[in-house]
Amino acid sequence: MGRTMRTPIIAGNWKLNNTISEAVALTTALKDLVADCAGVEIIVAPTFTALATVSDIIRDSNIRLAAQDVYWEDSGAFTGEVSAPMLKDAGCDYIIIGHSERRQYFGETNESVNQKVKTALSHDLKPIICVGEQLEDREAGRTETVIENHVSGGTAGLSSAQLLSSIIAYEPVWAIGTGKTATPAQAQEVHSYIRKLLKDAYSADVASQVRIQYGGSVKPENAAELMSQPDVDGALVGGASLQAESFAEIVKSAIL
Ligand code: PGA
Repeated sequence: MGRTMRTPIIAGNWKLNNTISEAVALTTALKDLVADCAGVEIIVAPTFTALATVSDIIRDSNIRLAAQDVYWEDSGAFTGEVSAPMLKDAGCDYIIIGHSERRQYFGETNESVNQKVKTALSHDLKPIICVGEQLEDREAGRTETVIENHVSGGTAGLSSAQLLSSIIAYEPVWAIGTGKTATPAQAQEVHSYIRKLLKDAYSADVASQVRIQYGGSVKPENAAELMSQPDVDGALVGGASLQAESFAEIVKSAIL
């Protein structure tokens, strides 16, 4: 089974950007630009404050909603946190979990990632589980060790069905927001390694169905070549998702 059986998935991670009115403008423009795009899953991930408004705009469209994080308790005395039932209520279908910025600046660990992944799945929300090495890891030849640690830590205890409801995003930290994209060959090498890890932990059949996105300076100019790699099933896009035109071009390059 090859890439053709996996629907490409393009997600725009807006990070800490866009007021509600900016989110409305961006979503409204994007909705028009991608209205005819079929055979690709399109996701936007606004900040918590814009989720419900964006959800209203994309109702009945081909765009789906993701949150950028979640807490594992449903409710209670946890000041500042947002729960899975709340994200579902706001219209989310997906949650980005374990982004390198959360690991780097907010103390996210494999354990918290795993707990959040399980929470998302138990509420019928699909986790986009981010994994990726730092530049010093790559230079020291530790890329596979770090990836193995992030993948096995993030997916620990998941059933095959739960893994199949999850998406893995490979994001080399040195390529995020730096303009330095991994070459298509570098991306393919790690994607195929991740698929091998999933094959060893689950089965060849399960591994062949899991979608693995690439993230890190994806732009209209490099998206098609990255996605032409056999194990690259889409993109997690930061900077280039903040402009409707560039994000729409990336979406279109997934279906060429
Ligand atoms: P970038 O961000 O496209 O701006 O590099 C990607 C990400 O962090 O998801």
